[in-house]
Amino acid sequence: MSSSVIRPGRIEEISSPSNPRIKSIKALSMKKNRDREGVFLAEGQKLVTDALEKGWTVRTLLHSRRLLEDDRQSDKIRSLAATVRARGGDVLITNDKLLTSITRRDNPQAVIGVVEQKLSDVSQVTQSEDDCWLALDRVRDPGNLGTIIRTADALGARGVMLVGETTDPFALEAVRATMGSLFHVDLVRLTEAQFGDFTVEFRQQGGVVIGTHLRGAVDHRSIDYSSGPKVLLMGNEQQGLTDELAAVCDHVVLISMNGAADSLNLAVATGIMLFEARRHKLPAIGAV
Ligand SMILES: C[S@@+](CC[C@H](N)C(=O)[O-])C[C@H]1O[C@@H](n2cnc3c(N)ncnc32)[C@H](O)[C@@H]1O
Repeated sequence: MSSSVIRPGRIEEISSPSNPRIKSIKALSMKKNRDREGVFLAEGQKLVTDALEKGWTVRTLLHSRRLLEDDRQSDKIRSLAATVRARGGDVLITNDKLLTSITRRDNPQAVIGVVEQKLSDVSQVTQSEDDCWLALDRVRDPGNLGTIIRTADALGARGVMLVGETTDPFALEAVRATMGSLFHVDLVRLTEAQFGDFTVEFRQQGGVVIGTHLRGAVDHRSIDYSSGPKVLLMGNEQQGLTDELAAVCDHVVLISMNGAADSLNLAVATGIMLFEARRHKLPAIGAV
């Protein structure tokens, strides 16, 4: 029987902005560098802790030296660093100025993780009776995507399918907006054609695909969401759902509105749909 031994990561103190490791971490603000390295940045102790707890690989942990000098923080950061190193990741002790230069934030987090990207393949998607998937057609705005991932997590969706050319879920702004939910829901990337094929199989197993469209003819509240696997399909911010995607839906619904706005923001519309589809699963407040 063979067993693989993980060599503990290294620990290094860095204060120079021209250090090559810092430079390559800064370069992760660009998608092409994230994709080449297969990693992304997660800001803050909570996000790095969530990542580790959910089995994501933290290649490098950066933290400010001041955390070690703060009695309320030092035990926590030492324990986080020990976990990262025990799993083979490196720890870089640095300063707030360098951390600010990496995330370009006015109020920088004192902890940053360089985390390995993880996306599921559509072949790994399994269905069970209560699954509710979200599918996003060419979502463009990273803030919308992060907010949707957070909402999907909060309302117990099984995961988020990214259909077609979408914004990068691993962009700093998207990851920030997820508030850690990125580590709790499955993300699947697929083409429009693959999504079409998926819906055929999904339907054979009793699944229902519910699309949302400003030209929808059905009130979103009139659907019975209480049983069977579901996919809620949301359209692109500017163009809405493609005709091809609308055609693979079992229902195309409209969220009723009566103000002057001609549509809802994508993330808000997604929240309303998810709440409607998942309300029978949400615990009653105050129930014993
Ligand atoms: C900003 S809207 C797209 C507006 C786009 N100009 C159009 O004509 O479809 C982005 C997405 O949010 C969802 N959405 C927004 N408001 C909606 C509503 N009232 N009913 C159903 N879906 C809505 C749809 O999925 C839509 O494709």
